[in-house]
Amino acid sequence: MFDKLEGGSHDSSLDVSSANFLKVKSMKSTFEKNVCVVTHPLVQHKLTLMRDKNTSSSSFRTLLTEISTLMAYEVTSDLAMQDIEIETPLEKMTSKVIDGKKLVFVSILRAGNGILDGMLSVVPNARVGHIGLYRDSKTLMAIEYYFKLPDNLNERDVILIDPMLATGHSAVAAIERIKQLRPRSIKFVCLVSCPQGIQAVHQQFPEVMIYTAAIDRQLNEKAYILPGLGDAGDRIFGTK
Ligand code: URA
Repeated sequence: MFDKLEGGSHDSSLDVSSANFLKVKSMKSTFEKNVCVVTHPLVQHKLTLMRDKNTSSSSFRTLLTEISTLMAYEVTSDLAMQDIEIETPLEKMTSKVIDGKKLVFVSILRAGNGILDGMLSVVPNARVGHIGLYRDSKTLMAIEYYFKLPDNLNERDVILIDPMLATGHSAVAAIERIKQLRPRSIKFVCLVSCPQGIQAVHQQFPEVMIYTAAIDRQLNEKAYILPGLGDAGDRIFGTK
């Protein structure tokens, strides 16, 4: 699927809206090979505003929170449910609640934190883990400096969050570490991805479903996504 984009080739024919390229499962998302592109107009509109270099940090943060809320809706759409007995003011009934232990959002520091608030606004009881990774400037490999996750991961579903899926090194390193704790499942949510990053994750973890608002064209020589939106951390926190 992504072969023609490998090796830094510049093929602008990657048209995620093409019905031939991705099967349309719903009007709001396209699915192929464990990649879900959230094509909802609100998500796409907000992403365009975020890409604009003239958008301020404060607007960027607000938009990211709003998009994350919308993406939370998609990523939680297949959560297991169970029936419980309750009593309305009028009578007893059987009604549905989410099954099992609380979800875990795992943020890859620091940019992942930009997605957390939006996710937590719709799943307020979720547990939160953090993984600190920095990118070695020479090898571009991810080096871990912090790791703190909730207990009982074997009974929990994990949603790993990071706004940019670029080389995939951070995502792969994070998934590897999380898998050591044997969670029930892992999904990955990002805002912008690229073919190389998706391929890197799925080469090692084909079962991990990736949710993204866009699959951009390629990486540049510094491993930034093109056209992308720049450095997500800097844009969230105003550090540049
Ligand atoms: N990280 C970012 O913040 N932006 C990119 O384009 C790639 C990695």
